[in-house]
Parts: sequence; C-alpha cells; structure tokens
Amino acid sequence: MDMLGLYPTWYEPGIGSGWVIGIIATLHVLFSHTAVGAAILFAFLAYIGYRDDRPELIDFIKKYGLFLLVFSYILGSITGPGIWYSTTVGSPNGISALIHNFVWKWATEWVFFVIEVVAVYMLVYLVGKVSQQTHLKIAVIFGLTSYATMLAIVGILSFMMWPGHEKWFTEGGYLYGFYGPNTFAQLAIRTAFMFTMTAVVGGIVAAGLKDKEFKRWLLRRLAVIGIISTIIGMAMYPWYLSTLPEVANVLMANRLPDYFTPAVLFVLAAIMAYFIVTLMSPRVVTASVAGIATMAILVLGLWPGETVRETVRKPWIAGQYLYSNQVIGRDVPGMDVKSEIPLLEEKGFTRAHVFWPENQREINPHNAIHVGQSLTLTACANCHSLSETGMRPLVNYFGGISDIERIKTYLVGAIATGNTMYMPKVPLKDDEAEAMALYIASLNDDEVVARYVNEKTRQAAASEENTRLSAQ
Ligand code: HEC
Repeated sequence: MDMLGLYPTWYEPGIGSGWVIGIIATLHVLFSHTAVGAAILFAFLAYIGYRDDRPELIDFIKKYGLFLLVFSYILGSITGPGIWYSTTVGSPNGISALIHNFVWKWATEWVFFVIEVVAVYMLVYLVGKVSQQTHLKIAVIFGLTSYATMLAIVGILSFMMWPGHEKWFTEGGYLYGFYGPNTFAQLAIRTAFMFTMTAVVGGIVAAGLKDKEFKRWLLRRLAVIGIISTIIGMAMYPWYLSTLPEVANVLMANRLPDYFTPAVLFVLAAIMAYFIVTLMSPRVVTASVAGIATMAILVLGLWPGETVRETVRKPWIAGQYLYSNQVIGRDVPGMDVKSEIPLLEEKGFTRAHVFWPENQREINPHNAIHVGQSLTLTACANCHSLSETGMRPLVNYFGGISDIERIKTYLVGAIATGNTMYMPKVPLKDDEAEAMALYIASLNDDEVVARYVNEKTRQAAASEENTRLSAQ
C-alpha cells in the first residue's frame, strides 16, 4: 500500500519547532558571519602589518583570533550541529531534501571548514614562531577557506528559497539548483553585513587594548568598515528582493506587520549612529558597549532578517517542491520525486501516514478531538504554533470563533484546495476536516468538545431509533 513519506511530528509546546530551529540558526549566523568577516579582515591586517612593520596589528589579530576561538569556533560549532539536530526532528524531509541534492557540496564545505579551523589555531598560536611570510600565508588561507564555506552554504540556502534554474525541476543536476539569481544576491548581502558584525564584535576586543593611540586608530577603522559595509548592504537590498520568487514579494507586501519596514530602517539607522559615534569619539566604546551592540544586532537585526527569509519562502521549505509541513507538493521529474498530494487526496492523512496512531485511523465522535489535534500538528504546526505564544499562533487566526461548521468551511474551501498563496495545499477528507475544525474550535472554547460529543451521540441515537422504527 502506498504511504506518505512522513516522520512523526516533533512539536515544542509554547514556541513550536520552527522557532527552536530559528533561535539556534540565528545565533549561528552571528557566530559564523563574524568569523568569516574577521578572517578576511585578518588577511588584510596581516598584509598591512607585515608590509608597514606594525606589530600591534599582528597582536590585534592574535587577540581577536583568541576571542573568536570561543565566540565563533566553540559557540559556532555547538550551534552548527544544533541546526542539524533541530532540523532533523523539526523538518526531517526538509533536511533530507537538502542532503539529497547537496551532500557533496556539504562535504566540500566541511573540508574547507576543517582547513579554516586548523588555520585559525595556527594563526593565533604561531605568531612570532614562523616567518612573517608564512604567517601571512596562513592568514590568507584562513580568509579564503572561510569565505569558501560561506559560498557553499549560501548556495544551499538559496536553493531553500528556490532552485536557481527552472531546468533543475526537469533535469536535476545539482549545479542548476545551486547557482541561481538568489545565490549571488544573498551571498553579496551576507558578505556586506558580515563585515558589519565583524566591526561591532571587533569593538569588544579593541576596547580592551592597552595602547590608547592604537586603540583609537583601530576603533575608527572598524567604524569605517562598519559604515561602508552597512551602506553597501542596504544598497544591495533591492537587488536581493528582485531575485526572490514572485510570491515572496507578495508576502512581503501584504503579510509583514506594518511596523516592519520602519523597524528595519530604525535598526539600520541605529547601527550607523553607533559607528558614527565611534568614529567621532572612540572613547565611548567599552567592551560592554560593544557587547550590547552585538546583542542588539542579534535580536533586532538577525532575528527579523531570518524570520523574513523563513516567511517569504512559504509555503515551501525547500526547493519549491517540499512544503513546510513536510509533504511533497509537486512533481520533480529531474529528481525522480513525485507529489504526495494525489495520495493524500485519495486516502487522507489518517490512512496514508505511516506513523499515525492506530486508534485514530477511524474517526468517531469520541476520538475526533484527538484526531483533530494530530492532524493540526501534522499539517499546520510547522508554521502555526498551537499555543498562544510562538510562531503565528493558530488560535489568533480564526478570529476567536468556535463554530465548527465555519472553521470547516474555511479548511475545505481555502486550505484543502490550495487557494492561499502562502499555505500548502492540505487535502482533507470530510471527516478529517471536521475533526480538525473541532480541535481548532476547542482552542477557543473549552466546552465545544462536550457539546460536539453530545450532539453526535444524540444524532446517532435518533438515527438508530429511525432505523428501528422503519424496520418494524
Ligand atoms: C507553510 C506554512 C503554513 C502552513 C503549513 C499552514 N499555514 Fe496557515 N498561514 C501561513 C502564513 C504565512 C499565513 C499568513 C500569515 C500572516 O498573515 O501572519 C497563514 C495564515 C493562516 C490563516 C489566516 C487566514 C489567511 O488566509 O490569512 C489561517 C486561518 C490559517 N493560516 C490556518 C492554517 C491551518 C488550519 C493550517 C493547517 C491545515 C495552516 N494554516 C497551515 C502559513 C502556513
């Protein structure tokens, strides 16, 4: 018998699995981008330091490098596997789609990453122990390999947005999926903002320098890097937008909260103000000030940024063929992938899901609420939290109604037909739609289940009575 390729759903009450992945990933972005930016900065500083004989620059590389060993290489290496763990349980088919397309790309990234890690240790611990020329070479290797890891990952991330090339759907071939218009725009914008992060985090290290003169000089240079990179990053934003799928722009226009654009502009203005103040009066930058600025970038800059990247990808999670709820939503002949929608239409989740609880395969008035919960968990929870907090709490989206029929009408009319642009098509059998409507109604009204069971029992009794009467 044909079954759906779904795993059991992992759901984190209170925040939803999406946010768990999001929180880990956002932290990882800070650690990783700072490292790549710093690696390139180090290569540059090492070049100037040795050319102009300025040992204090080499000393700064060593200090910032030591800081990065913890900040980027320990914390980054904890959050990196954290993304693997959380996506494996939170979005197993999503991560599987990426692995099926890019396993060698990831292996390549890993090789570069190993070289990068060895290089950062060598860079920090071999200062003065190898010739200047060798040390400079290590710095350059560190810079290049760091950037190579970023290129590899951004190609994969941009595939999550959409495969680069229409041909990928029909012919497969990972380069068609890897290189697309979004790959380069995303790489460019990340490259710009990674220097912003490197400049802010670098302030934490620079603030601790003893040599006052050099400290001022360095903080000013970091501010200049920060200002230029932020301006370039902002200037590239329209280009980035132009490389997104059509639906993404509609989502951005209609579905982001009104305060979003002003908030983003405010954050960018605040970053600029921070750098301008640093430029004019480097004295104000202490380790705590730079630390707070780093936290602000994390919470006010990276979190919304990653949230948008998640939102505008909807309803897909990867490659525009895998829905966020892990169901394959279209045929991809090039990869020998078949849509699971026909199977769902034929059998419904309750019959086609391998891991469905056996006692929920047939729906009756007494288990309907549990079936409804399982269905909602499976089909919706990847994007809608089922509690009152977290990502797009479902309870807020039905306007507080607990009318089962009205909810069912929406489920059947809009979601089962795939008529919303940003939600997956979720085919539901009639009894499944009713069970789901019951569960959603129960989010707003504690008594609805009891009423429903009573009503159904009464109806069943009445129809039994009818049958008995007509048999007489
Ligand atoms: C791919 C992610 C995703 C999945 C899966 C998903 N939704 Fe949504 N849903 C969204 C987005 C995005 C919005 C619009 C968000 C906003 O306006 O904040 C939305 C909006 C809604 C709305 C508001 C009405 C509207 O048309 O805007 C309802 C109701 C809703 N979803 C119900 C559901 C139900 C029920 C399920 C499960 C069958 C589900 N959603 C599955 C992403 C999803």
